[in-house]
Amino acid sequence: MTNKIMYFIANWKMYGNLKSLNTLDKVIRFSKSKEIKKGRLIYCPPYTLISSFLKKFENCLIDIGGQNCHESEDYGSHTGFVNSKMLKSSGANYVILGHSENRQKGETDKLINLKIKSAIKSKLKVIFCIGETLSEKKRKKTKSILSKQIKLGLKKIKKKSNIFVAYEPVWSIGTGKIPKIDELEQTVEFIKKKFKGKLPKILYGGSVNPENIRNLKKITNLDGFLIGGASQNSKKFIDIVKKTYN
Ligand code: PGA
Repeated sequence: MTNKIMYFIANWKMYGNLKSLNTLDKVIRFSKSKEIKKGRLIYCPPYTLISSFLKKFENCLIDIGGQNCHESEDYGSHTGFVNSKMLKSSGANYVILGHSENRQKGETDKLINLKIKSAIKSKLKVIFCIGETLSEKKRKKTKSILSKQIKLGLKKIKKKSNIFVAYEPVWSIGTGKIPKIDELEQTVEFIKKKFKGKLPKILYGGSVNPENIRNLKKITNLDGFLIGGASQNSKKFIDIVKKTYN
């Protein structure tokens, strides 16, 4: 049973509308109860819902993040985009960057590095996603892929205290499959070894649900979870937090 601060980040992806706000009442009640223990909840809704979520969470400690941002620190002619400064001023304190769904659409390590730098300047905490694809795993390339993503993604970034590294194997996202526990533990250790001095917090993401959390919580070197599908169901999300501590 863990007794440490654990982060539970809800990644809502391209889901949710104003009606979804009602589903949050349960989570708000839970966040004010003793059962939350040392859990920290952060919701990353689509941009369109950030201000409504913020209002909804007014009297509780649930925090807000964005799901991506543009790399430019300035305002500019970038139709359809939002930069880190705009996210921060909307009330977000976190941003997810380097998610595999965006890497697959062409985001390079270099671009992710620029985004992280701008997010740090805007005083956002960064949830920096890394992870190997199934074919990379099969070819035993996991370590070299993670090393490259960390090296290039965090290039010339000295202060890493506001960075969370989310290890999300691409083959695990939305598939119901998770890595073997001992393998995952070793990968988390491998990631930690990539850092000198103060270590960033390390999260796991990919098909986390109220069933497999019983196994995942055995990994004592993790600081929390990045949760997609299950986070849209308040009961499941709460269950994941409860089971982590019980
Ligand atoms: P999932 O998504 O929990 O639905 O697998 C995780 C993520 O993509 O961050």
